Amino acid sequence: MPRMAIPERTPARPIDALLRESRTFEPAPEFRRQANVSDPAVYELAARDPEQFWAGFARELEWVRPWDRVLEWNPPRAEWFVGGKLNVAANCVDRHARTHRKNKAALIWEGEPGDVRTLTYQDLYREVSRFANVLRSLGVRRGDRVTMYLPMIPELPIAMLACARIGAPHSVVFGGFSPTALAQRMNDAECRVLITCDGYWRRGEVVFQKHRADDALRQVPGADTVIVVRRTGDRVPMQAGRDRWWHELMAEAPSECPPEEMDAEDVLFMMYTSGTTGKPKGIVHTTGGYLTGVYATTKWVFDLKDSDTYWCMADIGWITGHSYIVYGPLANGATTVMYEGSPDWPDRDRLWAMVAKYGVNVFYTAPTAIRQFMQWGPEYPARHDLSSLRLLGTVGEPINPEAWMWYHRHIGREGCPIVDTWWQTETGMILITPLPGITTTKPGSATRPFPGIEADVLDDQGRPVPPGAGGYLAIKSPWPAMLRTIWRDPERYVNQYWNKWDRSTYYAGDGAKRDEDGYFWLLGRVDDVMNVAGHRLSTMELESALVEHEAVAEAAVVAAPHEIKGQVPAAFVILQNGFGPSRELEEGLRKKVEEVIGKIARPERILFTPDLPKTRSGKIMRRLLKDIVEGRELGDTTTLRNPEIAEELRQAYWR
Ligand code: WT7
Repeated sequence: MPRMAIPERTPARPIDALLRESRTFEPAPEFRRQANVSDPAVYELAARDPEQFWAGFARELEWVRPWDRVLEWNPPRAEWFVGGKLNVAANCVDRHARTHRKNKAALIWEGEPGDVRTLTYQDLYREVSRFANVLRSLGVRRGDRVTMYLPMIPELPIAMLACARIGAPHSVVFGGFSPTALAQRMNDAECRVLITCDGYWRRGEVVFQKHRADDALRQVPGADTVIVVRRTGDRVPMQAGRDRWWHELMAEAPSECPPEEMDAEDVLFMMYTSGTTGKPKGIVHTTGGYLTGVYATTKWVFDLKDSDTYWCMADIGWITGHSYIVYGPLANGATTVMYEGSPDWPDRDRLWAMVAKYGVNVFYTAPTAIRQFMQWGPEYPARHDLSSLRLLGTVGEPINPEAWMWYHRHIGREGCPIVDTWWQTETGMILITPLPGITTTKPGSATRPFPGIEADVLDDQGRPVPPGAGGYLAIKSPWPAMLRTIWRDPERYVNQYWNKWDRSTYYAGDGAKRDEDGYFWLLGRVDDVMNVAGHRLSTMELESALVEHEAVAEAAVVAAPHEIKGQVPAAFVILQNGFGPSRELEEGLRKKVEEVIGKIARPERILFTPDLPKTRSGKIMRRLLKDIVEGRELGDTTTLRNPEIAEELRQAYWR
């Protein structure tokens, strides 16, 4: 692992704001009294015997066969609940469909045009079982991977749970990713089955998803089965022998399907995420530990009660949606809300109208969304009765104290605890977070590790840094929902996460500080990964997309600060001979990135340049480009082969 500079500050939260941040918020006594956990002793208890701590949560789930050992830890390989057998769908659905929850809403879904579907636990049981039978009838067997390329419609969680039921790992690809990105992920996972839809609604328009899926499938030789959900009713091409309608298959499928007995360590799903190279990583999550981790954190962090209506605003195409729309809430028997569309459709109060309509109690979103709400203004939430809300959460990037305070005032009406939850695709579950009935919060800090989690801030040599100093976030012991490997790339798993210090300390790739009270303040990524509106993108992926364009000779991409999105890609581009800078070319490059990765990755700024700052060995000094886009003074340029270019670029960028 190369030495990397720890950022002194994140763009979204200047260090002086962080230092000035002295406000604290204690849990209200009424909240504390009703909280699922309110005794601070849980931290010590868990630290003394983490295995028993996690086993306590695991015992609240339903096992076909109990485990023999809680943890087998051969760093960096962990096995949790060794020998245990269970089924995730049975835990998330069947278990509740047999109790007083049978007619409780498991899922409340609202489409962008305003159509609503509510599925009770019994409904969900039948739909999941039916679709599990459909998959089996199409030849999907235990261990086969199934890809979903779907928007936020109920068929997505149904399909995921159906896969879990028959032991077929799913790979959900964010519906906004490009066909090329989908194809890359399907090929890597060697998937023959894709589940997609005709189209979906976005800001009043139909996005034709099936066309995009078809584009992708032309690049996936192994795909032979496509299941198409009818969402918008638009005519779409169906390829005979390959494409089938969801509703036709479901009409014939029986609604009983015995769940497969899965080993605790069998793969539940994989989720592709961006790393420091051009190739996305298939993060592998398994069954028993993952479910235990998301079950426990949902219960304690979101303080979920049987009577709660819970809404996580994320897209299920990201890990947040997997863990905290689908598996965590359903394992808890909760009512979880799903929304298909855009938050500003038909107006900027859509989310608040929905909070009031469904009486949402717990609401979880991202700082980028909160900054967007701030910009729209408090009059939109003020139009609605938000008094049902009792707890708020954020995730995805460091939250600037201003956004935290705005959320607290205008959404929480100063009466809701806010849980700022730090975690990653790889961690599977929340690792650093307040417990709302225990923790005194500070705006901008994710506070402390969840009980049973051991985190620290280390320097390059692996020594803990003193309070107030910057370092790297490290997780020092295994946790149940941790990733187990990278799909078909065990070496990269070791190198990426377990190679910076010793083999038993997890390197998260985030900069962090701790304050005098031991609170963690996350400082953003320290590697070539950026976080655009809560979406993780890799510098290398963007650069390789750009150089695919015929006009581009070389490209360097860095994350530039952005008021709402947190970060946005800024590209510095050297053109091939014979091409000159123009608005059209700029647009052409953006289109290229959109084609290869997706809309979310479009560079905000493109700067054409004859040269890039390079070391004598020819390596691009992205650090200097970061100084430029962050408006900082230029760092050391003496090792550059072409020192003058950095200053020229700075002037051109800010002109
Ligand atoms: C990266 C992981 C986990 C769900 C969403 C993103 C950043 C996440 C926080 C937070 C500061 C945060 C980190 C992390 N991040 N939550 N509360 N405070 N930073 O998942 O795409 O895997 O990205 O998001 O930089 O490494 P992801």
